[in-house]
Order: sequence, then C-alpha cells, then structure tokens
Amino acid sequence: MASLQRQDGTVVTDLQAIQAALAPLGVTLNYWPTGGSARLQALLAQAALNEAEKEELLGHLDHYFQRLKDEQGYQSRDLIVLHEALPGLGEMLGKFDKCHTHADDEVRYIVDGEGIFGFVLPDGQQVELTVAAGDYINVPRDTEHWFRLTPMRRVKAVRYFSSTAGWVPEYTGTPVLF
Ligand SMILES: [Fe+2]
Repeated sequence: MASLQRQDGTVVTDLQAIQAALAPLGVTLNYWPTGGSARLQALLAQAALNEAEKEELLGHLDHYFQRLKDEQGYQSRDLIVLHEALPGLGEMLGKFDKCHTHADDEVRYIVDGEGIFGFVLPDGQQVELTVAAGDYINVPRDTEHWFRLTPMRRVKAVRYFSSTAGWVPEYTGTPVLF
C-alpha cells in the first residue's frame, strides 16, 4: 500500500487522501490486487527472474493490461525486475533519481518490493510517494518527478507503454530536497 511523505516529515497513508494530494499533478494512483495464485506468489518471491519466468508472471496479470488496451489504447507491457545483485543497478538508478520528465506517461504496476516516486507540487513543496505491491501509478507526460528504491533495494513492476518510443529521461535541473 502506498504512503506519501511530505517535506515536514508527515506521512499520509489513506489512499483517498494521497489521491487528492497528487490530483493537481494529474497523477493517478490505484490499488490493484495481484491475486492469490500460488504460482504467481512463488514467482514474485524470487529476487531474479529469467525471461520465460517474467513472461509467465506477466501472463498472470494480463487482465489488467487488457483493460488498459481496451480503455486507453496501451500497446505493450514488460516487467522490470530490480534487486541488489543485479549488475549495473546503481548506474541504472542514477538515471532516474534526479528530477526529470518523459514525453510519454510513466505507467507502473508494482507487484513486489518497493519504489519511491518524488514530485514537485504546484506550490513548490516536494513529496515522496512510496509504492508497493498492488499500487498502480500513472505519472503523466511532462510531469516532473524522480524515482529511487527504498533500503530494501528490490522492486518488480509491470511497465505499460502506449508507444514503442524509447524511455529516455529529460532532466529538469530541479534539486531534490529529500
Ligand atoms: Fe521517470
């Protein structure tokens, strides 16, 4: 379940209150249960997955992808699996922990582990949203944000794409105050 931390250290855990706080940015946050399939839970429990296992895991969750295809025209999905022992993890994370935007929406469904999305609110205050298994987030294109892992250093997330364009950050230069 998601939680939102403000710069003054206060934490919001009520989903509706978090949704309201992020609404001015157009950010969508929903809770989608991953389901109780034993095989899915076994795949989620593994730190690393090979390509066949990733595709198998995605297959368990494709009813959500089908809905995004039908309702919003999404075209593809993949699974990102990050864990402490992944070669190049630090370099990869270093691309996204600074304020940036994308030309496309950043749509993620967290299915294991944790991640943190940071945002700059319209009044200039910054917030950090911790997302965990079951949290679906859409960060609209051109919305300034950053991303990092929690000390757990582990996340699995389905990424949904409405185009096949490369996923490149455009840095905005705003300093992260957290
Ligand atoms: Fe991003």
